[in-house]
Amino acid sequence: MKPIFITGGRIIDPASNFDDNADILINEGIVEKVEKGLKPPSDAEVIDAAGLVVTPGLIDIHVHLRDPGQEYKEDIKSGTRAAAAGGFTAVAVMANTEPVGDDPSMIHYTYEKAAGEAARVYPLGALTKGLEGKEMAELGRMKNAGAVGFSDDGRPVVNGSIMRNALHYASGINAPVIAHEEDPYLAAGGVMHEGAVSSVLGLKGMPSAAEEAMLARDLLILKLTGGHLHIAHVSTAGSVELVREAKAEGLNVTAEVTPHHLLLTDRLVKNSGYNTNTKVNPPLRTELDRQALWAGLLDDTIDAIASDHAPHHPDDKDVEYDFAPFGIAGLETTLPLMLDEVASGRIKKFTLPLLVKKLTSAPARILNLPGGTIKAGSPADLTIIDLKREFIINPETWYSKSRNTPFTGKRLTGAPVYTIVDGLIKMKEGVVSE
Ligand code: DOR
Repeated sequence: MKPIFITGGRIIDPASNFDDNADILINEGIVEKVEKGLKPPSDAEVIDAAGLVVTPGLIDIHVHLRDPGQEYKEDIKSGTRAAAAGGFTAVAVMANTEPVGDDPSMIHYTYEKAAGEAARVYPLGALTKGLEGKEMAELGRMKNAGAVGFSDDGRPVVNGSIMRNALHYASGINAPVIAHEEDPYLAAGGVMHEGAVSSVLGLKGMPSAAEEAMLARDLLILKLTGGHLHIAHVSTAGSVELVREAKAEGLNVTAEVTPHHLLLTDRLVKNSGYNTNTKVNPPLRTELDRQALWAGLLDDTIDAIASDHAPHHPDDKDVEYDFAPFGIAGLETTLPLMLDEVASGRIKKFTLPLLVKKLTSAPARILNLPGGTIKAGSPADLTIIDLKREFIINPETWYSKSRNTPFTGKRLTGAPVYTIVDGLIKMKEGVVSE
């Protein structure tokens, strides 16, 4: 394995509060040195990062790779290539596969299939058997097999007693529970946010209360059990407030938000002419919610940004709005969308170091993952970013098998130019290595 020498870049490492120009020497998959004025070893591959930003490898803690069972939508190979193309060195993958990831053999399957691919893959185990919400899955055995957390994502855990037992058990084995907060009775039949726009369009809505009621319940249960509850894809102003209050009370709760909830509203369902790529669960909400999500991200109520990469085949989405599956693919758009927000200055206080924190040290901490920092001795997972690069979202060029994004054609400023995983260059100038 050739050493890699990255010279002249601005290193941003929120975990160690480092933001300065320095050189990095990588050897045998490990960051060996981070110092100013280093000399490259004669056999090293040199990356000239002058004018570029070097960050810890980005980590996406909410990804659906559909493998096994729906490989026509995505598989571990295509999904990790999409991750590397998007600047991510690691992804945590949800258990709503076929069969469901509710058993140690499924955790082993994921690790084995992901070995040597373009990004690291950390499996999340299902919280309940078959995602049915009826019986707790074997969390301990899955944890021993390498599951990094537990979630029925895609579905809520409706039975409060099961959520209580799961949180209690997970806390005993030091694993986070990730909750998809939705009261399925309140949300039943909904295809978009319930509000003025759904009324005008005549589409059945999912009220904000469906998310908030379940979130409030889970926070109350967390008070009983202790443990760590992570809230997936927070989408409403009320949810942000609930998490803020719970944190102020000292509960061990963390939260994530997606780029689409930060950038889009339910008006797009109308303005796009019922484009099914705007159909996602939780749904795109209102401008008021969107503003609240940004406020929550800035004051650290919301810890991390995650894509909720939910790939679907174009044929699945090419149906009437009511019949399309929920989901937006995000691995190849998340970083450029967020970099563009920083570049535009639209959101005051949304700085580059803050963005890097939300995509590196914060997600690493939520799932207790290695990485998320650049220091001597840490795994050599790094992302190099060109803040000036013009980027147009074009799903036809994606490594993902999916095309489902509402952002097609968007012009952005800023893109990843290198993704380095375990000391190997997996993506260079947008091209993922074989
Ligand atoms: O839009 C979504 N799609 N939300 C989810 O919670 C699940 C996901 C999927 O698996 O497609």
